[in-house]
Amino acid sequence: MAAGEWWRHGVVYQIYPRSFADGNGDGIGDLPGITSRLDHLNDGTPDSLGVDAIWLSPFYPSPMADFGYDIADYTGVHPDFGTLDDFDRLVAEAHARGIRVLVDLVPNHTSDQHPWFLESRSARDSPKRDWYVWADPKPDGSPPNNWMSTFPSAGRAWTFDEATGQWYLHSFMREQPDLNWWDPEVRAAMDDVMRFWLDRGVDGFRIDVAHKMARDPELRDNPLVELGEGELSATELEARLAGQQRFDQNWPEVHEILRRFRRTLEQYDDRMAVGEVYLLDLATLAGYYGQGVDELHLVHNFVFVRQPWKAEAFRQTVDELWSLLPPGAWPAWFLSNHDHSRVATRYDEGGNGQARARVAAMMVLTLRGTPFLYQGEELGMADSEIPADRVIDIDGRDAERTPMQWDGSPGAGFTSGDPWLPIPGSAREVNVAAQREDPGSMLSLYRRLLWYRRGSAALRQGGYRSLTDTPGGLYAYLRTEGDERLLVALNFTGRPLRYDVGALAPAGRLELSTHPDRLPGGQVGLGPLEVGPDEGLVIRLP
Ligand code: NOJ
Ligand code: CA
Repeated sequence: MAAGEWWRHGVVYQIYPRSFADGNGDGIGDLPGITSRLDHLNDGTPDSLGVDAIWLSPFYPSPMADFGYDIADYTGVHPDFGTLDDFDRLVAEAHARGIRVLVDLVPNHTSDQHPWFLESRSARDSPKRDWYVWADPKPDGSPPNNWMSTFPSAGRAWTFDEATGQWYLHSFMREQPDLNWWDPEVRAAMDDVMRFWLDRGVDGFRIDVAHKMARDPELRDNPLVELGEGELSATELEARLAGQQRFDQNWPEVHEILRRFRRTLEQYDDRMAVGEVYLLDLATLAGYYGQGVDELHLVHNFVFVRQPWKAEAFRQTVDELWSLLPPGAWPAWFLSNHDHSRVATRYDEGGNGQARARVAAMMVLTLRGTPFLYQGEELGMADSEIPADRVIDIDGRDAERTPMQWDGSPGAGFTSGDPWLPIPGSAREVNVAAQREDPGSMLSLYRRLLWYRRGSAALRQGGYRSLTDTPGGLYAYLRTEGDERLLVALNFTGRPLRYDVGALAPAGRLELSTHPDRLPGGQVGLGPLEVGPDEGLVIRLP
């Protein structure tokens, strides 16, 4: 692929290292395990998934209060995951297969066991005191303001330190104190972290909670927002509640920090950053690319993830984001990650979860933008049931983090030992080995979609136009590049739909269907086009 902008064309696959592949039988996934499974991701042939890059969730030394998002050393590898040599081998093997490697950068907070924090909390006059956000109690001894942790079960965003008589801020768990990005030494220290990994050959970063690093320096109370009368959709409710977070995130200086990250990246060839910007306002989100497209290369869009299974909702978000993006900015599309219920469960209504997950896959892989997939999504993995005595995450996310299902053996090919999270019984049928051989499987659909996309300039980089005269429940769009014209039609309903697109052409060639028994090739009439229940189609127009 042409150097420079691989991240505009490629497909990125997220690996949750703890749950991908266990190389040494201790029940925890590790870096050598990942290396041993790279051929599944891309062996250069359509037998493999065919991804262009992997994003590794954190594998750094950590007490694991938040499974690695509480980092105690930014430039090492947790012994559970292996060593730096293992990391180097993973990068070399990935690059040998044309797979780029992104690592997770968690700049908003460290572990409370990071030496920086230990030093900071040791005394009020510690040289690193100002590296974190310390504040005096209010006169009545209560916390400095009303900010809350993102995790409801963690309560307030402040913890009192008895020894030094001040509170420290943590946007997540109390084990994850927030760094103070107003301090120039913090900025310089994170530059060094970035350079450490860039020098080791990583192709870029996924930036954890990129919208949180800067907040009101005066630490003012968040306003309490009226939720108003009447019913609110989940997204509207979220947006209103987000208004409640006026002072503790998305502060203007965050853009200065992101420009600094971009400048560091630009000292290297061909590197990039994708940011987790969990803000549910698309105009604000678009601002994270920077005015001159000088901030994040890609921005994860959580409005897209959080909406209901409705054609109109998806079309509206996609069209609206495109209308808001500054020139040169490029969207990223994803529906799953390690923090969200899996698609096959989230959208399931009475047993149609798999069919809908197939339509979702076609959408993410044919929209104009960079698709991100989450491990297991290519198998249609559902959320796992976690028995009460195995619940281990503070925020109820175990269900989407259970081990990758490689084969039908008791450890699912993930481990020869006891897996850290239970493997569901369904893994006997839902696994890579079984689905590889089945042309109708979810994995086969993903492989077809990815390899088709690779060969299609229209899908990788072509224009996008949504069609607005569709019947209710159908999301249809054109992707075009030169004389390659593709029509994508996605049926979000359980009914067959007819859509007259005879004006485009009397007939087209069926390239892909999400229905396992509908084989590609052959002509389909367009006046009208018939789309089956819960079916997605890609049709080449003459
Ligand atoms: C977002 C990460 O994706 C999530 O897993 C983590 O708990 C928080 N950020 C805190 O780092
Ligand atoms: Ca292991």
